[in-house]
Amino acid sequence: MIAQLLHWVILVLIIAQFVLAIMADDLPNNMKKLVLLSRHKSIGLTVFALALVRLGWRWGNATPPLPSTLKPYERLLARGTHALLYVLLLVVPFTGWIMSSAHGFPVSWFGVFQLPDLVAKNHDLSEVLEETHETLAWTLAALVALHAGAALKHHFILKDDVLRRMLPSSKPEGTEP
Ligand code: HEM
Ligand code: HEM
Repeated sequence: MIAQLLHWVILVLIIAQFVLAIMADDLPNNMKKLVLLSRHKSIGLTVFALALVRLGWRWGNATPPLPSTLKPYERLLARGTHALLYVLLLVVPFTGWIMSSAHGFPVSWFGVFQLPDLVAKNHDLSEVLEETHETLAWTLAALVALHAGAALKHHFILKDDVLRRMLPSSKPEGTEP
């Protein structure tokens, strides 16, 4: 229930992240851009924290086994995609945070508290990190598309319970209804 809920909350937040970043990108350097980017930073840090909670939860609670019908290469692909998604859920926000520090902009979480600067202001580094952040964010988007495609294939073509068991209301395997 907790793992499933976190999964869908993170999805909604990631969508918001792309909307905010793309809206901000189209604007000249004005107040509106700063507000959008500061929301983007706060939500990004929330994703970082929730991804850590999710990994912590996963460590202490077994996940249901992959369907036994999967071929060995499909098993590898599913495990590899999931692992890479977890890595990107941490690395994308982290590169955003270092990039902001290198730009010389402080990072706060919805104005409630300010996070430490990870590096000193450095123009060249900030340019590299900006590219890195954007490339990794779009890699995450591509991987999510692959992942969602696989989930939909399980639901509509293979007609198994892989997508259904991700609903927060679903019962863990082996329990009575
Ligand atoms: C899951 C989390 C995140 C995602 C998916 C994400 C995604 C993106 C994307 C796609 C862009 C580029 C938009 C474009 O121009 O094409 C962007 C830009 C940006 N991101 Fe993030 N981001 C995340 C977290 C963060 C965090 C935590 C911070 C800072 C603390 C941050 C700071 C920024 C900044 C400052 C820019 C604008 C760069 C510029 O044009 O100057 N991001 N982000
Ligand atoms: C930001 C977007 C998303 C991220 C970062 C993400 C990440 C993940 C990760 C890391 C897992 C592995 C769970 C584990 O074994 O610990 C997972 C499982 C799953 N995801 Fe996503 N996901 C996203 C979007 C979606 C979407 C849009 C769908 C459906 C259309 C979906 C359907 C599923 C399903 C069905 C599983 C369960 C697989 C199983 O039971 O073995 N996900 N997701």
